[in-house]
Amino acid sequence: MGISLGLVGLGEFGSAFAELFRSHPLVDRIALCDREPDRIARFANRASFQSKFHSRDAYESLDDICKSDLDALVIITQHWLHAPQCIQAMEHGKHVYSAVPIITVPDGEEILEWCDRLIETCRRTGQRYMLGETTYYHADAMYCRRRAAAGDFGQFIYAEGEYLHSFDSPACDLRVVYNHRLASRAGQEWAQKLEEYRVRGGEDSPMHYPTHSTSGPISVMGAHAVKVSAFGTPSQSDDPFLSDKLYPLSNITALFQMSNGASMRICEHRHCSIIRETFRVYGTDASYENGVWYEKERPTRLTEEEMRDPLPEEVRKAFLEAGGESLLYGGHGGSHPYLVHEFISAVAEDRMPAINAWEAVRYMAPGVIAHRSARRDGEILPIPDWGDAPE
Ligand SMILES: NC(=O)c1ccc[n+]([C@@H]2O[C@H](COP(=O)([O-])OP(=O)(O)OC[C@H]3O[C@@H](n4cnc5c(N)ncnc54)[C@H](O)[C@@H]3O)[C@@H](O)[C@H]2O)c1
Repeated sequence: MGISLGLVGLGEFGSAFAELFRSHPLVDRIALCDREPDRIARFANRASFQSKFHSRDAYESLDDICKSDLDALVIITQHWLHAPQCIQAMEHGKHVYSAVPIITVPDGEEILEWCDRLIETCRRTGQRYMLGETTYYHADAMYCRRRAAAGDFGQFIYAEGEYLHSFDSPACDLRVVYNHRLASRAGQEWAQKLEEYRVRGGEDSPMHYPTHSTSGPISVMGAHAVKVSAFGTPSQSDDPFLSDKLYPLSNITALFQMSNGASMRICEHRHCSIIRETFRVYGTDASYENGVWYEKERPTRLTEEEMRDPLPEEVRKAFLEAGGESLLYGGHGGSHPYLVHEFISAVAEDRMPAINAWEAVRYMAPGVIAHRSARRDGEILPIPDWGDAPE
């Protein structure tokens, strides 16, 4: 028997995953949930959904879908909602997939408290949590993890990760994206909550959403950040969007010492002139940067196809039938099908997902502390760690 799954949050990003979760061969029943009924209707009425979706499996609240008998929930709601919603789902006996990040709110201490509660809930309930970090399944990240597992890098020396994405990006304007996320009932409630953070002096940061830059180096090296010193550039004081978002620093650059003795440089920039999401890893025997593998100084250029892990044939076929090549290789560097497959197979096989809660907090906590260091003129600060995932 396959598994039953509820999709919670059918906005812009959740919609991009609906056909993948629906068509995975191990999923035999799918439920739909959004506080906006028209967002449910888009899929409920689709021909492709009719074999796995029944109208009694439409829900307009997380509270209601948590009371269902579904095995797992996929939570792709706004980023300030993720951690409490995932914890609520696990408390109701559901395995849970969360869009990134664990949570972003304008209060670093609160983010760390949610990390702590997430780990505690996974440990106590035994439910599976997976973070849907797209960079983790970029072709180059898969390739570098394979080479790292074979010991080909030698000793790790240094790594870099960067997510450069200006609020004003012509390719993807973050002001437009943010305003879209406010254009729903959940979004309107956030506007009020933000006021409460403002009153108590809350601060947001590019480093409160650091998973696209940290996950590459951390997952390849299999090491976590131990301490950090960071610096930032102040936000333009006349920009009402940034002051509304409680952003004192628009760009933060951080240098970390890692648990394996290597150094890691992370950039999270939101007022910049380049859009880029990438990582590079350097070892004593081999290094990887920008699509090129270097061994004894000899470069080998790699294609995405060479770098990607294969998907099981029946899964690849099902995704292709559901949406063609654009569904298979379209989303965020072709990562979407891998994220879906990893979560479904982890639940079906009753095993820890690759990006479990213990791994996820290692992508999140370094950013929170980097922001703190940048606000204290680069003071070197220790980074909390919750240890390795239990077997
Ligand atoms: N590369 C990436 O990994 C990546 C890219 C884009 C977005 N994201 C993440 O995905 C999140 C969602 O982005 P989006 O653009 O789809 O936002 P969105 O506002 O379009 O969609 C969020 C949806 O969640 C629904 N929702 C909120 N609370 C709910 C509840 N309690 N019950 C049922 N439905 C609820 C809302 O009604 C809305 O339809 C972002 O905040 C971000 O964290 C990640």
